[in-house]
Amino acid sequence: MPDSIIRTAVECLLAGELVALPTETVYGLGADAANPEAVARIFAAKGRPADHPLIVHLADAAFLTQWAENIPQTARDVAAAFWPGPLTVILKKQPWVPSVVTGGQDTVGLRVPAHSLTLELLAAFAQARAPGVAGIAAPSANRFGRVSPTTAAHVREELGDEVSLILDGGPCEVGIESTIIDFSRDEPEILRPGAISPDDIARVIGVLPRLHSERGTGACEMPVPRVSGSLAAHYAPLTPLRRVESGALAGEVKRLVDAGRRVAVLAYSRCATTSLLLHWQTAAPEPAAYAQKLYANLRRLDALGAEVILVEELPRDPAWQAIADRIHRAVAGSGAGPGEGA
Ligand code: TXA
Ligand code: MG
Repeated sequence: MPDSIIRTAVECLLAGELVALPTETVYGLGADAANPEAVARIFAAKGRPADHPLIVHLADAAFLTQWAENIPQTARDVAAAFWPGPLTVILKKQPWVPSVVTGGQDTVGLRVPAHSLTLELLAAFAQARAPGVAGIAAPSANRFGRVSPTTAAHVREELGDEVSLILDGGPCEVGIESTIIDFSRDEPEILRPGAISPDDIARVIGVLPRLHSERGTGACEMPVPRVSGSLAAHYAPLTPLRRVESGALAGEVKRLVDAGRRVAVLAYSRCATTSLLLHWQTAAPEPAAYAQKLYANLRRLDALGAEVILVEELPRDPAWQAIADRIHRAVAGSGAGPGEGA
């Protein structure tokens, strides 16, 4: 028997309303994925262009066939290996799946998130819809182009007026969005790096999936394939953001502070300078812990009113790849000022 908050959330979803929900990666802005009007509300709340497909969250892998067809065994294998977990698979969609969910594409993104509250919600929603289809479409619960939320408070600040209910599941454990792997074409391809690495996937399917990195320059929230009109401006603070090599960081901070500029820094190195003009945010030197706090740190630094945020260049190691991807996009989109997020 679901407790009352879950019951309320199911009622909201059945009524076509929006429910913000926690996942292990970031908070999502959820709606009944089988209800096109409800899904349209997600786009309106986020200010997201209609050609950007959404991920449908499922209670478990048994629901895959409701949403996808021609599912390759490799996709089933990774689902079995990593779900519930921070991995999204792109598959050929069932013909009935509303095009508002898929941005007009013939594929659909599916994942089972690893968060007990949301798994409970997904199971209760599926039970309420049985024997019908059940899935919750949920992009990250931020305005389009802005930093993803990793606490319920982040969602409340940014989209509190747009949602019927925010399920508070505490701070997200992973902190960056799921790895997205496309199984809809001949070769599996990673469209967005995440906590589950290409090597992790190779251990399950026996081949190293290609990384879709060449699309980095024309990218939007992630390198979206087969989507036109995307922009390189995501996960972006309003304060200009710059990457600085570790060895040059102290000198650059000193130069700016000496010039009277207010500076914020996100670094895993220790602070060497103190100044009233300087806010130095120390981040964890390990990728998992760094990622977990990344968006909260960016939000905090962005709120300081500094003239620039300097981000210490990350180690060039595959373990940092997904984080580097988010920082590159944040740099590309930063400094847009209110209302100009892509
Ligand atoms: O970790 C996550 O994946 C979070 C949590 C809430 O689950 N969700 C998330 O959603 O990051 P969103 O909408 O912010 O990013 C999903 C990305 C979009 O950039 C979209 O282009 C891509 O997934 N996507 C979804 N369906 C797709 C499809 N059929 N083909 C290609 N890309 C797709
Ligand atoms: Mg997003």
